[in-house]
Amino acid sequence: MGADDQKTESGQLPDYYPTVARDVTAFCGSRPGVWLDLGSGAGGLGLAILERAPGCTMALVDPSAEALSKALASADRRGLRRRTVAIVSPAERLPLPDESVDTVVSRGSFYFWPDRAQGLREVWRILRPDGRAMIGGGLGREYPQWARREFIRRRRESVAAKGPEAERRFAEARKPETFDRLAVEAELPSFEVVGEGGLGPEHPNAGIGVWLRIRKENP
Ligand SMILES: C[S@@+](CC[C@H](N)C(=O)[O-])C[C@H]1O[C@@H](n2cnc3c(N)ncnc32)[C@H](O)[C@@H]1O
Repeated sequence: MGADDQKTESGQLPDYYPTVARDVTAFCGSRPGVWLDLGSGAGGLGLAILERAPGCTMALVDPSAEALSKALASADRRGLRRRTVAIVSPAERLPLPDESVDTVVSRGSFYFWPDRAQGLREVWRILRPDGRAMIGGGLGREYPQWARREFIRRRRESVAAKGPEAERRFAEARKPETFDRLAVEAELPSFEVVGEGGLGPEHPNAGIGVWLRIRKENP
């Protein structure tokens, strides 16, 4: 049976954090170092990265203390608690010194930051020279195609139920051009935007998402 045939009987879709973690470590690497999962929520991605990158520690950052409590409980259950810290903060005002973090990742959160350009300036500020960052949203390149289609279909349905203005804002936030415009507004010295974002469920690349990739080269 191929990955595309392995539908779950409960209607629950497979976990996408491991497939996103694979894409993130493919770009950012997995050398020992300090990571930050920005807008981590309950820590799905940050903890999946720790499982792939044994020498790393992860700061989970989110304005919601409640979400971070869930993340820490999950880290405990998975044996990752000693490599995890939690920081209550918005992306736009990170309580961290300049050049203090090796890698920043953020999935499914950027769209909600009230001042996205300021958040990007903060990411650049805290990244060490030679640091990497990946900010955006998606399900991972290797997430099974059937599940991607179903995930996008359900997501579209729930956004459509909120009305045309919500649909317009949803699509706008996920356009590669929007990512580009915000990175330029933040005056990031170097970046690239990958993925097409906001595609319909039948598109073969739907679910790969859209990502801003940053390399802070050693001066
Ligand atoms: C849809 S959840 C995504 C959570 C997680 N990254 C994931 O992939 O499951 C969006 C998260 O962004 C957080 N968030 C909202 N505003 C934020 C801000 N200004 N800075 C950082 N995170 C923010 C929310 O608290 C929430 O946990």
